[in-house]
Amino acid sequence: MELQTEIAGIALDHPLMNAAGTCKLLEEAQALSRSAAAAVMVGSITLQPRSGHSGNVYWSGAHYSLNSLGLPNRGAEYYQKVLPQMADAAHQEGKPLFVSVAGFSPREYAELANLAFEKGADLVELNLSCPNVWRSGAQERVICFSSALVAKVLRRVEERVGPEAKVAAKLSPFSDPLALAKVAEVLSRSKIIKAVTAVNTFPNALGYAGEEPVISAGDGFAGLGGPALKPIGLGQVRQLRRLLPDYIQIIGVGGITHGQDIWEYLKSGAAATQVATAYLERQERVFSALLGELLEIPGA
Ligand code: DHB
Repeated sequence: MELQTEIAGIALDHPLMNAAGTCKLLEEAQALSRSAAAAVMVGSITLQPRSGHSGNVYWSGAHYSLNSLGLPNRGAEYYQKVLPQMADAAHQEGKPLFVSVAGFSPREYAELANLAFEKGADLVELNLSCPNVWRSGAQERVICFSSALVAKVLRRVEERVGPEAKVAAKLSPFSDPLALAKVAEVLSRSKIIKAVTAVNTFPNALGYAGEEPVISAGDGFAGLGGPALKPIGLGQVRQLRRLLPDYIQIIGVGGITHGQDIWEYLKSGAAATQVATAYLERQERVFSALLGELLEIPGA
């Protein structure tokens, strides 16, 4: 099986990397650089430092994981300092550095994308799908569900970083196929979008351990990932592959636990894949283990 692939014109040795949400610190980026991952994905980062939610913010079982981390990260000032070191660490191992950014306005996305490119990112992933941000008890909107807002973000980012920039958009799972088609059209019309990452966690899931929700933030609501997300992720990837022009590559993510899952995402139209839950559970060794399994699939 031919493992080499490409995202937004960036060559990758194989189609597996970590997903956003799993690497926020310099030491983590260094560990990923040394791992068998094909690229290093940092973030999501925000302009202001955020301590994230407290209490139980992550839970994982055999069938799914739940998280409401609350976008913990050290903010622009820290990343300004460490992104060049992260880029060096990745580049020394022959890997590109991808940076996921989460703004609270179109202007913030533009600022963050610009910062990431200036400090060495090879590709910026716009996180248009964070489900876990609450302000004064009210949940912030998940941006990708408003195509007007997505268009505004893309316009601002393009004005700031130029049309040639290598930008990906990360989406939530859409239950309405026509709404997915509409956002795909907005993404297709933007010059900056060269890749789409599908999917983020399914918003506002709820799990109990005895009498209490397993996640303590946000009234128990949490993004769902892990194996239960895989059929949804595969369906989103296949729909997007039909909706998007060929030059926009798809990065498949959601529930990858075995090499077979990577193969299924590739068959569905993804050019590369990401792991979050499986990486958090198994650390860096997950990359070589899954790639080994992928290579052993008969006829793949
Ligand atoms: C968080 C979760 C997400 O799914 C995401 O896209 C961004 C942030 C979080 O809770 O930190």
